[in-house]
Amino acid sequence: MDQSMIGILRCPLCGGAFSRRENSLVCCNRHCYDIARQGHINFVPGQKEMFYKKELFESRAEVFRAGVYAPVIERLSQALARHVPEEHPVIVDAGCGEGYYIKSVCPDRAMTRVGFDLSKDAVRLAARGQREALFFAADLKRIPLADGCADAVLDIFTPADYAQFKRILKPQGLLFKLAPRSGYLRELRAAAGGFLRRKEYDGGDVECYARERMNVVASETITYTLGVAPETVAHLARMTPMLAGIDIEKLDLSGVEQITIDETLIIGSIK
Ligand SMILES: C[S@@+](CC[C@H](N)C(=O)[O-])C[C@H]1O[C@@H](n2cnc3c(N)ncnc32)[C@H](O)[C@@H]1O
Ligand SMILES: [Zn+2]
Repeated sequence: MDQSMIGILRCPLCGGAFSRRENSLVCCNRHCYDIARQGHINFVPGQKEMFYKKELFESRAEVFRAGVYAPVIERLSQALARHVPEEHPVIVDAGCGEGYYIKSVCPDRAMTRVGFDLSKDAVRLAARGQREALFFAADLKRIPLADGCADAVLDIFTPADYAQFKRILKPQGLLFKLAPRSGYLRELRAAAGGFLRRKEYDGGDVECYARERMNVVASETITYTLGVAPETVAHLARMTPMLAGIDIEKLDLSGVEQITIDETLIIGSIK
């Protein structure tokens, strides 16, 4: 972890800046956090794992490896190129999961890549075997980053805290919010039909809520259907919160041969 990355971190307890002492970060009020061997930091010791468990993140990693979300990366990379012109920008992925997006966007561009998630398992997976991004476990209600340090925040299928995003963004900084639309994973929801509490999914609420809090500079829909192998379908069923609470093993997914991705990307500053 280089000095510029330490420079943007702030103690989640007191807001103080950190300095490095061997394998720890120590703030000016002596709050101390270990740097793991893989380079990540846990700013939420004592945090229990939630719905998002290690197996779920492993399934997510398999789905990403299969390329299901590659067109989303492409579109997000184009949007970042268009709307974030700064040289070597700081990009923060809030609720980064196993880090697919922050590691994959704009592959040829030099930027400070930062990802955090409340799940320690996710952050551990994200940090494994890489050095290009800084990952840490933290709550987005108390992001351990300095005021005005980020050129862009990515918020991808993750809860948002708009006041925190505004605090960490530079004055000209932008939020890139991706949220599911009504067609998202429609084939999986059709297969799970009888088990679902809500048969129809309408992402409109999330989108309205976001638009009320943002000065939107651009928005686009990302919609495509692609053929998928049976093992990818099984991983998708395990990873999506849309099927949370359903015993996946009881579902007959044999008829699912293609999957629809239907999302909105909203880009803007925070009001
Ligand atoms: C549906 S997943 C999306 C993960 C990733 N952005 C992606 O699209 O692959 C939602 C993520 O939000 C994280 N999350 C939920 N509440 C959070 C909070 N309060 N602070 C930080 N992360 C949180 C979860 O641990 C999970 O990784
Ligand atoms: Zn402190």
